[in-house]
Amino acid sequence: MPALVLLGAQWGDEGKGKATDLLGGSVDYVVRYQGGNNAGHTVVVGDQKYALHLLPSGILSPGCTPVIGNGVVVDPSVLLSELSGLNERGVDTSKLLLSGNAHIITPYNVTVDKVTERFLGKRKIGTTGRGIGPTYADKINRVGIRVQDLYDESILTQKVEAALDVKNQVLTKLYNRRAIAVDQVVEELLGYADKLAPYVSDTVLVLNQALEEDKVVLFEGGQGTLLDIDHGTYPFVTSSNPTAGGACTGSGVGPTKISRVIGILKAYTTRVGAGPFPTELFDEDGEALRRIGGERGVTTGRDRRCGWFDAVIARYATRVNGLTDFFLTKLDVLTGWEQIPVCVAYEIDGKRVEELPYSQTDFHHAKPVYEMLPGWNEDISKAKSFGDLPKNAQAYVKALEEMSGAPISAIGVGPGRDETIEINSFL
Ligand code: GDP
Ligand code: IMO
Ligand code: MG
Repeated sequence: MPALVLLGAQWGDEGKGKATDLLGGSVDYVVRYQGGNNAGHTVVVGDQKYALHLLPSGILSPGCTPVIGNGVVVDPSVLLSELSGLNERGVDTSKLLLSGNAHIITPYNVTVDKVTERFLGKRKIGTTGRGIGPTYADKINRVGIRVQDLYDESILTQKVEAALDVKNQVLTKLYNRRAIAVDQVVEELLGYADKLAPYVSDTVLVLNQALEEDKVVLFEGGQGTLLDIDHGTYPFVTSSNPTAGGACTGSGVGPTKISRVIGILKAYTTRVGAGPFPTELFDEDGEALRRIGGERGVTTGRDRRCGWFDAVIARYATRVNGLTDFFLTKLDVLTGWEQIPVCVAYEIDGKRVEELPYSQTDFHHAKPVYEMLPGWNEDISKAKSFGDLPKNAQAYVKALEEMSGAPISAIGVGPGRDETIEINSFL
């Protein structure tokens, strides 16, 4: 059994942490391949709730090796505090592997993220303020700092100098901020070197050797398809590739090794931050989804914007990721509505459009075309099989499956590990 990818099919927060944790006990490695601590993945095990930002959700499964791949951007202070937080709760984190090629989120990247957002004013992206975009920008500009640079003081100093050369000009002259001292940054970063050393490894080699030995590798995406820098609602996106291809570049595992790509799909839609969202609700239904679904950001504590299910987006996710399966989450949240609207197409300038328009202007003008599906009132949180669901809930799932273009292989009916209906096995 080769490699599987598990990723967000919408705008993030679909329940990737729960789905990864569910599979964590049956896989050998769980790998984060992009993003950083902008992610907030919730895992509920029994009465314990964990919020993971940088660590792969597999860290909670004792037999599984968690890996932070080369495509991730790592804030060392966040990583170390996440590790010590888990250690205090009795979770063994000693198996963690951290790619020496992963880029480091430096303090100046965080500053630039916050200052840029403030400068954009009402045109801001609504980033998480964690330095994600500026760190990826440095990577692409070839002035990034990598984990391995922490082990060569002279190279580290030269690289920080190079990175701050232009940034300090911008910070002082454009943003009216104080310049950042090279020495201070270097000293802070060197302070992390010994603490991170036990985890640093050649993760590309480790993962490829594992696959040759028939070990099972699960890639856990951060964010979601519509937040992808290439395939998302640019510029209202994150600065990495959460889509399936990102699993390859962000880990050094070739596409021929990947056998399954699972899209995590919420039974309705949410979004955090700015940007278009055709099915967004501004009425009491939106408020009810937020309240019942607990739709508040794990990372920033912001209220999530809520709306009905959008099948156009789900179809798009199937296409750009080559999805083999969906894991439908939070079906239980929809219990109690008499009728549930589902967006089946858009109306753009008076024309019906079935697929996501490539033009940003068109997408901003897209109005949802709804089909009404009958709701249910029965509590479904104890359902263990598809047959346990009320007829209308079954019909809702079947309708979504038909519209979305890939089989729904699991259904979440609550946040806990066991609150899941498995239809087709993923392994
Ligand atoms: P992620 O970023 O994709 O991992 O998702 P988040 O953790 O940010 O948000 C998903 C939220 O929904 C978390 O609070 C989960 O505990 C919760 N959750 C996941 N699956 C289900 C489900 O099937 N039903 C309910 N009610 N909650 C769920
Ligand atoms: P998980 O992994 C939801 C959003 C931010 C903002 C945009 C850019 O928990 O699903 P960034 O800080 O990445 O530059 O912000 O992306 N965003 C997320 N939204 N879930 C996430 O992660 C997100 N990570 C970033 O709100 O709109
Ligand atoms: Mg989240």
